[in-house]
Amino acid sequence: MTKNLYIHTIGCQMNVYDAEQMAGGLMPLGYQLVSSPEMADLILVNTCAIREKAEQKVFSFLGRLAKLKKKKPGLIIGVGGCVAQQEGKKILERVPYIDVVFGTHAVGRLPKIIQQIESDRGRIIDIEMSDEIQEREFAMTSQHEGKVTSFVTIIQGCDNYCTYCVVPYVRGREMSRSPENIIQEIRQLVKAGVREVTLLGQNVNSYGKKEGLCSFSELLSQVNDIEGLLRIRFTTSHPKDLSEELIHAFRRLDKLCKHIHLPVQSGSNRVLKRMNRKYTRELYLEKVEKLRDVCPDIAITSDMIVGFPGETRADFEDTLNLIRTVEYDSLFAFKYSDRPNASAARFSDKLSEQEKKERLQILLDLQKHFTIKKNEDLVGKTEEILVDGLSKRQTSSESRQISLNPESDIQWAGRTSANKIVNFIQGNDCRSNDKILTGQLIRVRIDKALSHSLWGEPVKLEPLGSEGEKSYAA
Ligand code: 5AD
Ligand code: SF4
Repeated sequence: MTKNLYIHTIGCQMNVYDAEQMAGGLMPLGYQLVSSPEMADLILVNTCAIREKAEQKVFSFLGRLAKLKKKKPGLIIGVGGCVAQQEGKKILERVPYIDVVFGTHAVGRLPKIIQQIESDRGRIIDIEMSDEIQEREFAMTSQHEGKVTSFVTIIQGCDNYCTYCVVPYVRGREMSRSPENIIQEIRQLVKAGVREVTLLGQNVNSYGKKEGLCSFSELLSQVNDIEGLLRIRFTTSHPKDLSEELIHAFRRLDKLCKHIHLPVQSGSNRVLKRMNRKYTRELYLEKVEKLRDVCPDIAITSDMIVGFPGETRADFEDTLNLIRTVEYDSLFAFKYSDRPNASAARFSDKLSEQEKKERLQILLDLQKHFTIKKNEDLVGKTEEILVDGLSKRQTSSESRQISLNPESDIQWAGRTSANKIVNFIQGNDCRSNDKILTGQLIRVRIDKALSHSLWGEPVKLEPLGSEGEKSYAA
């Protein structure tokens, strides 16, 4: 009998990957994915605890499920991910209609847990953490169908204990998967049509160190050799662990995309020390310089925290100056918030919400200028893009800006190696079969820069693969 499964994912790419694993694991029990919670027999909420706001989102979503449970008492509701790990039993106490709470290390045990609930209708909590990696059988689900890009977790957990961060407490110790399992999974994805993988970890740079496996750069080389795979990305890199070898991989490996997400968090040495980041502003800038020496057109992005406890106006100015020096392609910036267990929660000199809000706005306004500048620098250049598929409808103001006829023009979207979204228009012949371009690398001349995307025109429509440069395995 088929049963309907709805997964609501909040948070980072790792949660997206975990959601795929949950769906794959539940398939043998007869569960198929559906697109709305109303249709579901089982709802899983995959949660995020990284910042206060993310955690609030979890409880507001759970609140919305009360009505559904009333209407359909047989509905099973599960809460997984980082908030489940952090709060455990408290979730069952706070939300009476939740049936299961399962932690970040319990994803592999989920099918057994659900089976048990189906048979005895009890409530289960499983937040046990292990110090060994739990390999799960890879299973293709409808989430993989027609997908050009995919995430693959290579290392779980974190041993760094940045003072603001909850991750080491909710994801546990660092544990790397074996290169064999990773390569095997990517091969399966490529067979199913995936052309680009993003290797995931809280700190991919320390891949394999603890277990004495190969280094992260060596793993990248192995992934680079996979036939049919066109592109490789990875995230996230801790600046302190960014090795020379890895920097040189950007020149050495033809499939490695020219983009690095290298979170700096602050431009002030005093704050970096209090954050326990284990690098200085100078060391960070040195690494940025080396990256640009090796790969001049590499895109660099970062995360920033504003209003860390004790951050003075001068510290904040240091951060703004660092942004001016690096000229990031884009930034994710957050107001500091206390997290349970993270030691900065106990620091005394907290900033007011108003001050944090103002600093965030100043930082975002400054960065906006660089994001647009970086996009404008690409106008007139020819870029290779991997086509994701038909693009989302443009807003009417954007359509006017690029003289688009929304009735007849077909819009496609792809990404450059530097991870910039490029939209382009292609004729009616492609409408009937979006597979013509989806998953292909094509060359596009960039005509226009908008604030979050680019517009271009294909230089040559034949996919680069058909010139015999690359063979597609699928
Ligand atoms: N407050 C604000 N931002 C945080 N981040 C992590 N913890 C906190 C916190 N307590 C941000 C960091 C990290 C990103 C994923 O979230 O910038 O890189
Ligand atoms: Fe959190 Fe620091 Fe680990 Fe990143 S490196 S997950 S910020 S503790």
